[in-house]
Amino acid sequence: MSVQAYEVRDDDRRPPTADLLEVVQRGLRLHPKRLPSWLFYDERGSQLFEEICEQPEYYLTRAEIDLLDVHASDIAEVLGEDVRLIEYGSGNAIKTRMLLEQLRAPVCYTPVEISPEPLRQSVQRFGELFPGLAIQPLCADFTKPLRLPVPPRATRRNVLYFPGSTIGNFEAREAIELLRKMRAEAGEGGGLLIGVDLKKDPATIEAAYNDKAGVTAAFTLNMLARINRELGSNFDLDGFRHRAHYNPMAGRIETHIVSLRKQQVKVGKMFVDFDVDEAMQVEYSCKYSQADFAALAAHAGLQVRHVWLDPQGLFSVQYLTRADVAGHWSMRMAANGMVGG
Ligand code: AVI
Repeated sequence: MSVQAYEVRDDDRRPPTADLLEVVQRGLRLHPKRLPSWLFYDERGSQLFEEICEQPEYYLTRAEIDLLDVHASDIAEVLGEDVRLIEYGSGNAIKTRMLLEQLRAPVCYTPVEISPEPLRQSVQRFGELFPGLAIQPLCADFTKPLRLPVPPRATRRNVLYFPGSTIGNFEAREAIELLRKMRAEAGEGGGLLIGVDLKKDPATIEAAYNDKAGVTAAFTLNMLARINRELGSNFDLDGFRHRAHYNPMAGRIETHIVSLRKQQVKVGKMFVDFDVDEAMQVEYSCKYSQADFAALAAHAGLQVRHVWLDPQGLFSVQYLTRADVAGHWSMRMAANGMVGG
């Protein structure tokens, strides 16, 4: 069968340098200072994130793969035939492959990724792995409304796949907004398949964000290196450190870049003062109980229809559909004794 791969449509909405400067300056004017976590992911940051996923302390990736190992065929059964799989992010090859291998006659696979190069690699990789599968990549920011390509044939349902617990990097209000947008994109009869990291022993969570090899610390500080390179600023990377603490009340890892001394940095035409020990917030990684996530989903008009856990109960993959589509699902869940939200 021939590879039905489409051109990468370059709808790249990364901010141009002027916007980047504005984003960074705005964040540095806040009290406390705060920069958005998407700034982590330049080429080096994306490589470092791949390395984080291999650290012994970072259980999330392994747990999600273990989960798919056990449950991918059940997930595929729940999703049914003729699914159009739309992935937010161009995907950890292993997880997406495990899911696609089990899907029954998928209509097409659409990875949605803001950076053209990882998207191209993903198209090539999945084209080779699944020669009969139509691949319709979309180069776009998945937090914004998407112009999805027209699928090559009739589709039973759109499934928006969002693995890796990236939903945890959005604060509740933003997460609800994103889930609402996904609900609209899934359309009637569609669903959302989301990787969600679960609340657990705080020491386990904290260790995952403070690996002994220092890869997460390098990942965090790379944000400053990126700002220096792209905006010509002069952050001294030796003058700052990574700090990640679990806040049990908020149920999230809070990552900060902490100034080791009193110092001044120039960003564009702006001079920014840092006090000794001043912390700049750069990332939240929210952890959910099943009830927490079901409540979040309900705010977006979604209902959790199914939850799968890895064998150690560290991580979940959850299937959500519109809350108003009641009959079919409640009957199915009752019949199968499925775990609801
Ligand atoms: C991408 N995201 C789910 C990761 C997380 O666990 O929050 C990003 C990360 N930050 C530090 N380590 C990993």
